[in-house]
Amino acid sequence: MSTIAALQWRYSLKNFSNQKVDDDKINNLLEAARLSASSYGLQPYQVWVIQERDLLAKLSEQAFGQSQVRECSHLLVFANETVISDATVERYFARHYQQTQTPVGSLDGYADHIKSAMAEKSDDSRRAWAEQQAYIALGTVLTEAAVLGIDTCPMTGFDQQAFNQTLGLSQYGLSACVICAIGYREADMQSPVKVRIPREHFVRFVSLKG
Ligand SMILES: Cc1cc2nc3c(=O)[nH]c(=O)nc-3n(C[C@H](O)[C@H](O)[C@H](O)COP(=O)(O)O)c2cc1C
Repeated sequence: MSTIAALQWRYSLKNFSNQKVDDDKINNLLEAARLSASSYGLQPYQVWVIQERDLLAKLSEQAFGQSQVRECSHLLVFANETVISDATVERYFARHYQQTQTPVGSLDGYADHIKSAMAEKSDDSRRAWAEQQAYIALGTVLTEAAVLGIDTCPMTGFDQQAFNQTLGLSQYGLSACVICAIGYREADMQSPVKVRIPREHFVRFVSLKG
């Protein structure tokens, strides 16, 4: 399937079938998240995977009873880091030097620039920035899932604090910002009509000539 055909096919599934998604396909989705772009490459989030039925049932209650959480094959929880500090930047550069095999310290100037840019933000805007990065990974996962013919339902309709408590996210300095149910539709389910802004109201090509 081309990406556009896959995006036409996908929709946010409310009623999941019993079919489970294979581990290799789940790993594919997780790899798509891991390879996603992020501001400065800092990736200030993790993806937690839940497939235990009892835990999904409990989380469904904490998601206003949304059945997708209970009935999906796997639930992905995108959890952003709650504290973004110099240490976040230093961890990134340690990784960078190791993975690119470049001399340690050769990018100190750039690291300082990122630290200052982060320090200028308020706590709230650093947190919002971290959530935004997690959302980019969510988008990548939605697209990759569609290309693989896997259904998804992205969701923010859940009690963030309850999720953090149930999953013990806070003790890792994380907070759930968006979740995504993964699974398959019933075989006879057709994709509903897409409701989208018409292209002429959505895209504008701009030039200095007007
Ligand atoms: C960030 C985000 C949060 C969403 N939260 C929910 C939700 O809590 N429950 C739900 O059923 N759908 C949720 N949706 C799905 C949207 O309603 C859906 O994407 C939108 O109506 C477009 O339709 P489509 O995805 O089926 O093409 C969410 C989507 C996004 C991107």
